Amino acid sequence: MANDPRDAANQIPQFPAGFLWGVSTSAHQIEGAVDEREPSVWDVFTAAPGHVKDGSTAAVACDHYHRYREDVALLKGLGVDAYRFSVSWPRVNATGGLDFYDRLVDELLTAGVRPVPTLFHWDLPAGLDWLERDTASRFADYVSVVVDHLGDRVKKWITLNEPAEHTLLGHALGTHAPGKQLLFDALPVAHHQLLAHGLAVRALRAAGATDIGVANSHGPTWPASQEPADLEAAAFYDVLLNRLFAEPLLLGEYPSGLGELMPGDVASDLKVISEPLDWYGVNYYAPTRVGAPQGTEIEFGGITMPAELPFSVQEIEGVPATDFGWPVVPEGLTELLTDFKDRYGDRLPPVVITENGCSYEGLDDQDRIAYLDGHIRALHKAVEAGVDVRGYFVWSLLDNFEWAEGYERRFGLVHVDYATQERTPKASYGWLRDVLRAQALRD
Ligand code: NOJ
Repeated sequence: MANDPRDAANQIPQFPAGFLWGVSTSAHQIEGAVDEREPSVWDVFTAAPGHVKDGSTAAVACDHYHRYREDVALLKGLGVDAYRFSVSWPRVNATGGLDFYDRLVDELLTAGVRPVPTLFHWDLPAGLDWLERDTASRFADYVSVVVDHLGDRVKKWITLNEPAEHTLLGHALGTHAPGKQLLFDALPVAHHQLLAHGLAVRALRAAGATDIGVANSHGPTWPASQEPADLEAAAFYDVLLNRLFAEPLLLGEYPSGLGELMPGDVASDLKVISEPLDWYGVNYYAPTRVGAPQGTEIEFGGITMPAELPFSVQEIEGVPATDFGWPVVPEGLTELLTDFKDRYGDRLPPVVITENGCSYEGLDDQDRIAYLDGHIRALHKAVEAGVDVRGYFVWSLLDNFEWAEGYERRFGLVHVDYATQERTPKASYGWLRDVLRAQALRD
């Protein structure tokens, strides 16, 4: 069949059978309906002036709580296999809060879309604190409630989203909720989240779950030069971003002696943290170029990095950038995954890309199409190189509340007019729908 796109060299090349195509969102970024749940640390943080660039809050966001049917119809129209959303812990704490997820899960299943909930995507109930060890047990209790309620219909689970960013931005630098600026004193926050993850895996297993992963952010770290000071700074950054979160989970140990800085009985906690996973979720956006510290504050990606950090994050020149200013480097995804396979070998379970996407303005978002096309091809190169990849989720279905950036960054395949809540599919939505239908990329 000459016209069958599957015959063309540009087909989506042989991702494994059962490969999951999906899109991702998170509760705080889309749900709104703030009065129908308990407050979270993000509500407290955004209420104080100066924390969010456009002064906005997520009190309404995309009003998904009331419009989920329309949003599930968009998922159905897109033709994805799966939808990654997050369950809001402060909503589950409110009377009747779980009913919303009942309705959402049922609607998804009716539409033929597999629900893939993340159990924590940064919206910690106000009053809890990851500096406290007890928060990890509280998380496991909440996870038990959720899995007991939804486990008859939900089969695939994600414990945490990006504990690295929640630690770094929320507790070390303070640009995200809860706004703490503890620098390296934030390390217990990483440990307690990892412990929470391990306890949650046990709670999910106790309820019979057999398809459990985590969504960690990772990216290659590129040294600014081959000078020893740059190499050393880049290696340290790689420890903080990648190894600090991958190695306790995959190897049961902390890298570079960091375990000594963690609170509690670390050796026994690591046994919990390294409970075997069924798959490992990677959120990939871009590589980071890192050099020796410059002895001054650095503004980077909208974040002020204090002078005392032992590295400096630098611009990657000669590549396109998204509207957010993030470099577009699809081959970084191939590099990241092949490096992970080399580093962790058989200890690395099958990988799912739980987020990948970009912020661009406009409905005719050809730049987003180019970004996604490039990254799907780069992902396939990793498959060809022997990495076991089982799924790919685009961030995001909808434009939404981009944390400290407010509503100015638009990551959606679907445009949201926040004044009217009207949803308008962008060119990228049609493009992805056609790719999934044909199982083919264009020339
Ligand atoms: C990572 C986070 O998980 C998500 O919440 C965020 O919106 C995207 N990256 C884009 O920054």
